[in-house]
Amino acid sequence: MLRDRIRCQSLQDRLMSADEAAAMIEDGMTVGMSGFTRAGEAKAVPMALAERARNHPLKITLMTGASLGNDLDKTLTEAHALARRMPFQSDPALRKAINAGEVMFIDQHLSETVEQLRTGQIGPVDIAVVEAVAITETGGIVPTTSIGNSASFAILAKKVIVELNLAQPVTLEGLHDVYIPSRRPSRMPIPVVSPESRVGLPYIPIEPEKIVGIVVSEKQDSSSTILPPDEDTRAIAGHLTDLLLHEVRHGRMGYDLQPLQAGIGTIANAVLHGFIDKPFHDLKMYSEVLQDSTFELIDAGKMSFASASSITLSAPMYAKVLPKLGEYKPHLLLRPQEISNHPEVIRRLGIIAINTALEFDLYGNVNSTHVGGTHMMNGIGGSGDFARNAFLSIFVTKSIAKNGAISSVVPMVSHVDHTEHDVDILITEQGLADLRGLAPRERASAVIKHCVHPDYRDQMQDYYDRALGRGGQTPHLIEEALSWHQSFREAGTMRLEGRPEKRTIRQA
Ligand code: COA
Repeated sequence: MLRDRIRCQSLQDRLMSADEAAAMIEDGMTVGMSGFTRAGEAKAVPMALAERARNHPLKITLMTGASLGNDLDKTLTEAHALARRMPFQSDPALRKAINAGEVMFIDQHLSETVEQLRTGQIGPVDIAVVEAVAITETGGIVPTTSIGNSASFAILAKKVIVELNLAQPVTLEGLHDVYIPSRRPSRMPIPVVSPESRVGLPYIPIEPEKIVGIVVSEKQDSSSTILPPDEDTRAIAGHLTDLLLHEVRHGRMGYDLQPLQAGIGTIANAVLHGFIDKPFHDLKMYSEVLQDSTFELIDAGKMSFASASSITLSAPMYAKVLPKLGEYKPHLLLRPQEISNHPEVIRRLGIIAINTALEFDLYGNVNSTHVGGTHMMNGIGGSGDFARNAFLSIFVTKSIAKNGAISSVVPMVSHVDHTEHDVDILITEQGLADLRGLAPRERASAVIKHCVHPDYRDQMQDYYDRALGRGGQTPHLIEEALSWHQSFREAGTMRLEGRPEKRTIRQA
């Protein structure tokens, strides 16, 4: 069985234990590991590394595609093995260490990491650790459920450790399309002209001599933690489908829409799920993660093709999809994240991008990353790659959080990930603000009318009316613009009613 998976003769003697492989990672090294949204991460070697760090302290810079599964970010954080981490994470223990200043986190557009590595602006990568389903006759690495940044890590690293995961089905082979853009400034156009364009190789091409160790593992990917749709997410999905039907009626697109991108998380998944009983057909995705909703849409005969960088599913959906992967394969393709998220391709294909905001403001600026303006949640991920270059850039969020103590629509966002210039449509369960072609003052009226929760509407109208008195292209009461966040920090709620002293202080 192992011989079928390690088809390159000269590599068959490179098998070693995870401990032996981890021993090659030294203090201060930069390590590039596979893994993207809890899919396809190397599992045994980082575990062994954490164990080693517990007994013999060491710290590395860890680069991945995106978040890791199997509690690896937690385990590495608790072993104090991380000095620096990039470009994305979603683990509560690591989040805490980042916000305590113990781990330096570089929150980066997911398409950009390997561009910077390739040009020596960051790095270099000392060692790459990549999960694979097989190694080809020529030493090519066949990734598992994600590609992420693995291809460039392996190509650019001095040494490569391959984690051969026997629990992953061999039918994964053939799913991947590894294309590496040529060097700038003389780069040729990336030849992806539709979600199904195959432009590269089904494996990561590297010189076999660089593979210094092969570790066998049998650990599964972690399943996703998304929650099922609820009343609010169904309402958000309803507003979005109404908008898309409106676009169809106005001849701006057909019922096959344009290629879809949907962000991570519960809300984005629920929104796509909402397309199932709508009259759309022949839908295509050009996204970075395929969640449960992608497979539900394929099963329902609504989606004909989905291109992404990883597959991250709930446990029941994994149990359904993995054994039947051969049947799904004609509808799927996995690409390096710099291609799935490439601005050139996103602009060319005219993507409808649906991402989630933590909060947005009166004028359409969006915060996707920083709670209260200071504390990192997960990271910008690919949302910026898509939002800025999309045909239609949509942000969704529930209008309130923490049982209504927080309004997700605020006078001014406490951190900006996506500026007003990158955002076309804002949706909460309350309604949809179509900001296209609107000036800031018009945007504010649309946001107050359609998106703000009724508990906060008067408060927002009051803020805006008083801001108008100051004038400006984008009216604000600068000294009061973040007072809702301040109020939440001090009094546990953004509601100012019954707290007239707040207004008095601010107005003084
Ligand atoms: N202020 C503070 N906390 C807020 C908030 C706000 N305005 N809005 C929501 N939250 C909290 C929720 O209460 C919840 O907290 P909990 O985990 O303690 O329950 C948490 O944020 C997640 O919110 P939820 O409503 O469950 O949304 P989600 O699972 O869809 O995640 C993001 C939302 C924004 C965190 C997530 O989409 C993300 O990290 N986005 C950035 C990366 C990205 O967009 N990638 C997409 C490209 S594929």
